[in-house]
Order: sequence, then C-alpha cells, then structure tokens
Amino acid sequence: MQQAKIICLTQSKGGTSKTSSVWNIAACMVNQGYKVLAVDTDQQANLTTSLGVDPLELEGRSVYTLFTDSQVKAKEIIIATAEGIDLLPANNDLSVVEFSIKGAVSREKILARKLRPVVESYDYILIDTPPSFSLTTLNAMSAANYLLCPIQPEPYCLDGMNISIR
Ligand SMILES: Nc1ncnc2c1ncn2[C@@H]1O[C@H](COP(=O)(O)OP(=O)(O)OP(=O)(O)O)[C@@H](O)[C@H]1O
Ligand SMILES: [Mg+2]
Repeated sequence: MQQAKIICLTQSKGGTSKTSSVWNIAACMVNQGYKVLAVDTDQQANLTTSLGVDPLELEGRSVYTLFTDSQVKAKEIIIATAEGIDLLPANNDLSVVEFSIKGAVSREKILARKLRPVVESYDYILIDTPPSFSLTTLNAMSAANYLLCPIQPEPYCLDGMNISIR
C-alpha cells in the first residue's frame, strides 16, 4: 500500500526560501513522475499564488476551512494545478485560524487527521509553513515524517532554526 512521505518545510526566519523550495522540489518530483500534493499553511498564500491559484477566488474552500470545519475533507479542497502539482490552497483567512481552533480537541493534530485519507493518493506531500512558530506550523510539523529547514548563512537565520526545532 502506497503511503506518501510527508515533508514539512519550516523556518521561523522569513524569506529563507521555504515557499520557493516547496514549489521547485514539487515541480522536480512531478517531472520525475511522482504524484505530489503541496499544502500551503501560510496566510501570505505565496505558494498558492506561485501555482497559479488566486487566493481571493477560493470562496471558503481553503486550508482554513480544512482546519475549522470538521465536515470538510481534504479531497474537497484540493486543486489540480496546471503544473501537475495538486494543491491545498491558502488565503488570508489563515490569519485568524489560531483563534478559530484554540478550543478544538487535539488542535495540533487537525492537519494530520485531515491528510490521513489522502496519503495513499500521493508519493509525496510537501507542506509550506509561515515564518513563525504558530499553531499552524505545529500542525504542519505534527503531520510530517520529515522536517526540512531552509537556512541562509546568517546569525538571525540560525536563531530562527533554533526556534523552529526547539
Ligand atoms: N535558491 C535561491 N537563491 C536565490 N534566491 C532565492 C532562492 N530561493 C528563493 N529565493 C528568493 O528568496 C525570496 C524569498 O523566498 P521565499 O518566498 O520562498 O521564502 P520564504 O521562506 O517562503 O518566505 P516567507 O518566510 O515570507 O514565507 C524570494 O524572492 C525568492 O525568489
Ligand atoms: Mg513563504
């Protein structure tokens, strides 16, 4: 039985190439014939935009909905993009997700639970995270088998990595 390897790209320092890495690694994997799902958990929605999806046109069908509506399934939100990468898209609604799920049971495992039904449909699931250690980031890390922390060789970036993996 196929089971996707889930990789979370995380780093508290901003602008270290989390989003660009998810996009480029996913594109390389698709070119190699792998089936890939990219998950955008950043309210900036840079990954979503990079893959040609307008965050303003999601009409409530976003990662935020996945986090906050227990009835919504991942497969109902996934968009097949022109690049051949499937996408769970984000929009600015994610800016309030911390408040929306703060009372939820096992709130750090919501994303893991929602991804479980689709792990057999993919070879790899790549999760982009915001530049902060938030409940959203914790969900992304909890769902993952592997963490990839892109850094640039500068002190603040190393500080950011310490925050991410502490
Ligand atoms: N390998 C690279 N070499 C040079 N520039 C790069 C590389 N990867 C990304 N960049 C550039 O660095 C900038 C930041 O990249 P990106 O948005 O992917 O970072 P990020 O970590 O996702 O940022 P944020 O923390 O805001 O989400 C972008 O302008 C991107 O074009
Ligand atoms: Mg980013």
